[in-house]
Amino acid sequence: MINTLASIFIQAFGYKHEYASFAPGRANIIGEHTDYNHGFVLPFATSQGISFVYAPNRDNSFRIIAANTNDRIDISRQDINNSTSIGWFKFIQQVLKVYSDVPVTGFDMVFGGDLPVAAGVSSSSALTCGVISVIEKINGLGHVAEDMVLKAVTAERGYGVQGGIMDQFTIFNGHKDKVIMLDCHDNSFEHIDFLRGDYSFYLFNTQVKHNLLDSEYNQRHNQCLQGVDWITSNYKPVASLRDITLADLQHLRPLMDKMLYNRVSYVVEENARVLLTKEALINNDAIALGHLLYQSHTGLSEKYEVSCPELDWLVEYTKNNTAFLGARMMGGGFGGCTINLIKGSLDDHTQDQISSAYQKTFGLLPEIIQVKPSSGIMEIASRG
Ligand code: GLA
Repeated sequence: MINTLASIFIQAFGYKHEYASFAPGRANIIGEHTDYNHGFVLPFATSQGISFVYAPNRDNSFRIIAANTNDRIDISRQDINNSTSIGWFKFIQQVLKVYSDVPVTGFDMVFGGDLPVAAGVSSSSALTCGVISVIEKINGLGHVAEDMVLKAVTAERGYGVQGGIMDQFTIFNGHKDKVIMLDCHDNSFEHIDFLRGDYSFYLFNTQVKHNLLDSEYNQRHNQCLQGVDWITSNYKPVASLRDITLADLQHLRPLMDKMLYNRVSYVVEENARVLLTKEALINNDAIALGHLLYQSHTGLSEKYEVSCPELDWLVEYTKNNTAFLGARMMGGGFGGCTINLIKGSLDDHTQDQISSAYQKTFGLLPEIIQVKPSSGIMEIASRG
């Protein structure tokens, strides 16, 4: 990938790039819609991601090419906030806003990769975090990962989605063969070994594009805040849904509005499932882990209502196939991918069966991607 980007760079700008880097995508084993509720998540960085080749320029402008779509932006610093129809550039504008207190040097850059867009694998966070590390490098800013994660979160919220911290945290803190147990209450974390033995995770991309801004993502976030307010006024003071226990749910169930109770109880139960999944990983209990994935999906689909028919279908399909130990929708929802735990690996025959059954039902060809816990954002030592 770097070589392809390097040759596009030289053709477009007439000189060789100076630096290269890679920002991974994010998969999440379990802990969905818990991050913005101060809860637990168990994600990992993927080997798929976005690569960048770049160099500072001397004319205070930003010349950026997206290799996948062949779009190019040429913009001077003073025009940087001009409205644009190019979706990916909106994320870069938000990053530049976050650095508006620094006289950021202009740069030339080509980026591209193998992450499906709007599929729940954090392509937008990979771009945002990648551009942050480009700016840090060129300007010698030296912020630590923790600061850069927070800048990335601020930049993405500037785009309008009231997201949590999971994606950006994972992209900066990924580690080969390890998953991240992150407590979004205080951002403390530990790296945990992935399952030992012959197990693998595959994503099935429904090809239903989610757009978190248009989706009900922010509405779910607000409903959780409403839940916190209601519980504080009517039951006990809580700062976030993290402060509610499974035992509290028994008391709350008859008292609360059904929809609000469903949202709240999903989050509380999902937090408990993340802790059980951590135990399952430590005990190398793939069967238990698989059950937890199915339970998580049921909660996301029936209580949190962020699934869609295509995601539900793909999860149901796996229940009749012994290769699968568990499956659930992954990411924000309303489309995107399911994550599937497999004993061994998924043979071509099984992949073909799933693809053709899905295509017959929905008229779309799913993309099947194996994902492995991989390193976080990194510089690549190649010079152009
Ligand atoms: C998106 C957000 C994350 C998280 C997930 C759902 O990926 O960016 O912060 O809330 O949805 O778990």
